[in-house]
Amino acid sequence: MTIGKIIDGKAFAEGLRAEVARGVAGFLASQGRTPGLAVVLVGDDAASAVYVRNKGKMTVAVGMESLEFRRPSATTQEELIELVEELNGDPAVDGILVQLPLPDHIDDKAVIATIDPAKDVDGFHVVNAGRLAVGEQALVPCTPLGCLMLLKDELGDLSGLEAVVVGRSNIVGKPMAQLLLNENCTVTLAHSRTRDLASVVHRADIVVAAVGRPEMVKGEWIKPGATVIDVGINRVPAAEEGKTRLVGDVATAEAASHVRAITPVPGGVGPMTIAVLLRNTLVAACARAGIAAPQGL
Ligand code: GUN
Repeated sequence: MTIGKIIDGKAFAEGLRAEVARGVAGFLASQGRTPGLAVVLVGDDAASAVYVRNKGKMTVAVGMESLEFRRPSATTQEELIELVEELNGDPAVDGILVQLPLPDHIDDKAVIATIDPAKDVDGFHVVNAGRLAVGEQALVPCTPLGCLMLLKDELGDLSGLEAVVVGRSNIVGKPMAQLLLNENCTVTLAHSRTRDLASVVHRADIVVAAVGRPEMVKGEWIKPGATVIDVGINRVPAAEEGKTRLVGDVATAEAASHVRAITPVPGGVGPMTIAVLLRNTLVAACARAGIAAPQGL
């Protein structure tokens, strides 16, 4: 049995971080300061605290300044907006990331709308979403941009390929579809109401699964030779009593025999997100300084 290539997202992300680190050194040499990334964490969600710690470590590892703002879960929306406005006005801050989810009493949209689009390294502001939609230079959400990098590395020119994105979130599915369209793919954006998802997925040369449902995309749905990007990170019970394991949105073991390439979970898309966040921060810093971003980023 032939086995498709398992895409090593961890290695690719390491390479990207090394490139960002070189770019940061160049930025320091020309601007006399390091790019700064501000991360805002409200409340005490355990998973968010882990993400934020990892982000902080990797930000410092590429030579950037990491600024962390922790606020209690009782923080009001007005207080959070005030903090974002301060960061907008702080010349040492090039990127602002407000960790989601926010506590229920805070409206995510109102907070994101306050972030200066030039510092919106998550690419969540409607100005950046709109720029991406019309094909203008934009800060693009980290996870889909990371997926696109892996796809281009694997396939080169994506022009004319059939791409099916499963999942229509604002953070992954929709920007992923826009990015693939900008690469001249024929794009289908499928979702929970899509009829006969199996046959829709079977058309695809590129499948991006971002639905958050464990192993929902079956191996037999995938066309032989297709390239599969699995964005899902789902914790499920393991064979051993009381243990859990991580699986993606794709039944990888079933698909691996006939795909051209597939990302594993863990070790595929996951490591790309923070690497792209650092890339976006450097790109934002260069744009704010009025200099070109390093080529190839
Ligand atoms: N929570 C989980 N992932 C992310 C992310 O990429 N950005 C933000 N802002 N919050 C998140």
